[in-house]
Amino acid sequence: MLSRFIISTLAAVLLPFTNSTALAEDSKEKAASVTEEDGKHFDAEGNPTFKIENGIVDWYTFNGYRRYHADCHVCHGPDGEGSSYAPALAKTMKNVDYGTFLSIVAEGRKSVVGGKEVVMPAFGDNKNVYCYLDDIYIYLRARAVDAAPRGRPPKKANKPEAATAYEASCMGG
Ligand code: HEC
Repeated sequence: MLSRFIISTLAAVLLPFTNSTALAEDSKEKAASVTEEDGKHFDAEGNPTFKIENGIVDWYTFNGYRRYHADCHVCHGPDGEGSSYAPALAKTMKNVDYGTFLSIVAEGRKSVVGGKEVVMPAFGDNKNVYCYLDDIYIYLRARAVDAAPRGRPPKKANKPEAATAYEASCMGG
C-alpha cells in the first residue's frame, strides 16, 4: 500500500516534468515543414525550418551551410561539430529555440568554463551574419535533428527571388 502510494505520487510529480522536457527538445517531427513561402519553409509553430528531399536541400539550408562556415565554424567547428572552445551546435541546437538563437547571436554571451572565460561574440551589427540569421538557424536545426549530414550539401534548390530581394534590402539598408 505504502509503496504504491509513493510510486503514484512520484509519477504525478515527475510525469509533467518529463513531458515538458520531451516537448522542449527539437526533433525531425517538430521540424517538419508544413508551409512554404517562396522557397522558405516553416514548421507547425511558424518557425523557419528546412526541407530536404531526395538529397536536395532547400536554398536556405544550403546558404546557412555557407554562412555558418564563413562566420561560426572557427569556434564551433566544421559542420557544427564543436571544439574545445565552443559547444557543438550540431547537438545543442536541439535545445535552443528560434527566439533564443536570435538573441544569443545578436547579443553574444560570456561564461566561465573550467576557470577560463569563454566568449560568444555579439553579431548584432554584422550584416554578413544578421542578414542570414534564418539561413544559419535553418542549417543548424537540420544538423541537430540529424536531417542534414556533414559536409557541403551536394544538391540544392535554386535561389528564390524572395531571398535575392531580402538580401539586397538587408545588405543595402
Ligand atoms: C569567437 C568564437 C565564437 C564564434 C566566432 C561564434 N561563437 Fe557561438 N559560442 C561561442 C562560445 C564560447 C559559446 C558558449 C558561450 C557560453 O556558454 O556562455 C557559444 C555559444 C553559442 C550558442 C549557444 C549554444 C548552446 O549550446 O547554448 C549559439 C546558438 C551560438 N554560439 C551560435 C553561433 C553562431 C550562429 C555563430 C556564427 C554567426 C557563432 N556562434 C560564432 C563562441 C563563438
